[in-house]
Amino acid sequence: MITNLSVSVIEQTTSTSDLARSAIDDGAVSGTVFQAHIQTRGRGRHGRVWQSPKGNLYLSVIVQPSRPQMDWPGLSLVAGLALADTFAPLINNGHLRLKWPNDVLVDDKKIAGVLLEVYKGVVIIGIGVNLVTAPDVGAESWPATALTDHISQPVFMDDFRDQLLTHLQHHLAEWDQSGLQPFIKPWTDYAAFLNENIILAHETGKPTHGRFRGIHPDGTMRLETDTDGMLSISAGDVIRTRPVKQMDNPFNKD
Ligand code: BTN
Repeated sequence: MITNLSVSVIEQTTSTSDLARSAIDDGAVSGTVFQAHIQTRGRGRHGRVWQSPKGNLYLSVIVQPSRPQMDWPGLSLVAGLALADTFAPLINNGHLRLKWPNDVLVDDKKIAGVLLEVYKGVVIIGIGVNLVTAPDVGAESWPATALTDHISQPVFMDDFRDQLLTHLQHHLAEWDQSGLQPFIKPWTDYAAFLNENIILAHETGKPTHGRFRGIHPDGTMRLETDTDGMLSISAGDVIRTRPVKQMDNPFNKD
């Protein structure tokens, strides 16, 4: 799917995914990558801001799948797995897991995220990795961490990026050929909160409570609810696990 990767590194931009959009306007091909050292309007999932100070990794990859568009949401799991495979050999202090659909967690704190966008029939995979600094998120947001807190040897940004792109290119080729099926087991091996109670927030409406039972073959979440049985969830945000942990419970004094 990507025969050649071509990486352009820019000091500062609004968002690397904006650069990708302009490049698509100009006919850019699959495998075109934009990396920036600083983003002034970095964006995350669900319209959130992705704080993008210097030192962390921000990149967007242009991808033209040959699979039908209905399969494309699965790419967010594929990208998450490429990230997990990149982090795995580096982290020597902390538990690496994936939070559906594609947040990378270490010790339950977010270290990287993926934003999938479709523009003019082309996919843009935007990836942000907290290499050296974790954003100062408010109490309402999922806590964050950075790679430097979980390694013993320094990791260079270019090396991390090259490893990530190698994993991504390999996984994308396999996905384009075979779909999500080969990724279900490896993704599930990294899955956070498997068989635990979770709360899933939606763009509109009330959150759904249920037990996270892994993923369906199409990558949607298997959420077992008390009221409606097993649901297939295609979008949403795991905001919390349940029951509330002792240390988080304001009514718990010890
Ligand atoms: C998330 O909310 O977890 C997704 C974050 C994605 C951030 C990356 S940084 C590179 C690319 N450019 C953006 O503006 N966003 C993505």
